[in-house]
Amino acid sequence: MDYLDSINRALNAVTYPSEPQGLYEPIAYALSMGGKRLRPTLVLLACAIYRNDPEVAMPAALAIETYHNHTLLHDDLMDHADMRRGKPTVHVKWNENTAVLSGDTMLIAAFRHLIDTNCPNKERMLSLFARTATEICEGQQHDVNFENRIDVTEEEYIEMIRLKTSVLLGCAAKLGALAGNAPDEDADTLYRFAEKIGLAFQLQDDYLDVYGDPAVFGKQIGGDILCGKKTFLLIHALQKADAETRKKLLAILEDKTMEPTLKIRTVTEIYNQLGIPALTLAAIERFYEDARRELDSISVGKEKTAPIWDYACSLLKRQV
Ligand code: IPE
Ligand code: IPE
Ligand code: MG
Ligand code: MG
Ligand code: MG
Repeated sequence: MDYLDSINRALNAVTYPSEPQGLYEPIAYALSMGGKRLRPTLVLLACAIYRNDPEVAMPAALAIETYHNHTLLHDDLMDHADMRRGKPTVHVKWNENTAVLSGDTMLIAAFRHLIDTNCPNKERMLSLFARTATEICEGQQHDVNFENRIDVTEEEYIEMIRLKTSVLLGCAAKLGALAGNAPDEDADTLYRFAEKIGLAFQLQDDYLDVYGDPAVFGKQIGGDILCGKKTFLLIHALQKADAETRKKLLAILEDKTMEPTLKIRTVTEIYNQLGIPALTLAAIERFYEDARRELDSISVGKEKTAPIWDYACSLLKRQV
C-alpha cells in the first residue's frame, strides 16, 4: 500500500492563515516541495499492522511531517545549506529570520495536529513527541559540537545520529502503533525497529552527501565535507588512514581558502583509496539486520509486518 498520495492530500488540505505572508508563505513552500514523506508513511504502516483503517493515524502523520520540515528549516540554516529538494532553502529564498520564525511556527503547528487528534492514547503520544523533539535538539547540538573536534569516536557518532535522526523514525512507528492501539510491547519493539532503520538511513544520508547523483540528490553534494561534519565516512577515514594521509586529510578540512570543489574532490579521493564507501554500505546492512531481528520479535504474524519491512527495504535503493 502506497500512502504517499493520501499523505500529500492531507498535507495540502491543512490551511494556514494568509497573513502575515512572510511567516506563512515559507511554510506552504516547505511543505509543498516534495520529500519522501518517510516518517508519516512509517506512522501509517505501523498503524496498519493493527487496524484496517490506518487513516486514524493521519493527524499523527501530519504532526510528524510538519515537525520534520520544521527541523529542516533550522538544520539548513545551521548547516549553511543553500539547496533542498532541488530548490533554494528558506533562509536563502527569504532570509535567516524567516527560517527561524516560520520554522518555530511549524513546530507549534506539529503539536497542534496531535492535540487535535481523538486517539485514546493521545496523552502518551504527545509525551513521546515532546521527548523526541527535545532529543533531536540534543542530537543537533552534538552534531554542531563535533564540527570542531577531530577525535569523535564511532560510538559518539552513532549516539549523535540516534538523537538527531533515528528517534524521529522510532517516534513515527510508535505513534502509528499507539494510534492503532497496539500492545505496549509491540509499540516499543516497533520504536526500536524504526530506530535501527534510522541509523542506517543517516549513514546512507552521509554516503549520498558524497556519492549521490547531483542531478537527483536535491542537496549540494559535499556539503558535509565543507562544514567539517563528523560523518560516518570521515570518522572511519580518520581512523583508517596512515599518519601521512590523516595529516593531509585534516589539513584539507581545516583549509579555509581551498576552492570548495577541489576540497570535495580531494577528500572524496581519500575516501575511495581507504575503501570507505564499501565500509559504509556494510554498516548500513548490519543495521538492517538488527532492525529485522526487532521486527521478528513482534507479536503479530510476519504477513502483517511485511509492508513496513518492504517499505524500509525500498529505502536502501534511494538516491534522494
Ligand atoms: C532529511 O530527511 C534529514 C535527514 C534525517 C537525513 P529526508 O531524507 O527524509 O528528507 P525528505 O523529507 O525526503 O526531503
Ligand atoms: C539531519 O541531519 C538531522 C536533522 C535534520 C534534524 P543532516 O544535516 O545530515 O540532514 P540533511 O543532509 O541536511 O538533510
Ligand atoms: Mg543538514
Ligand atoms: Mg545537520
Ligand atoms: Mg546530511
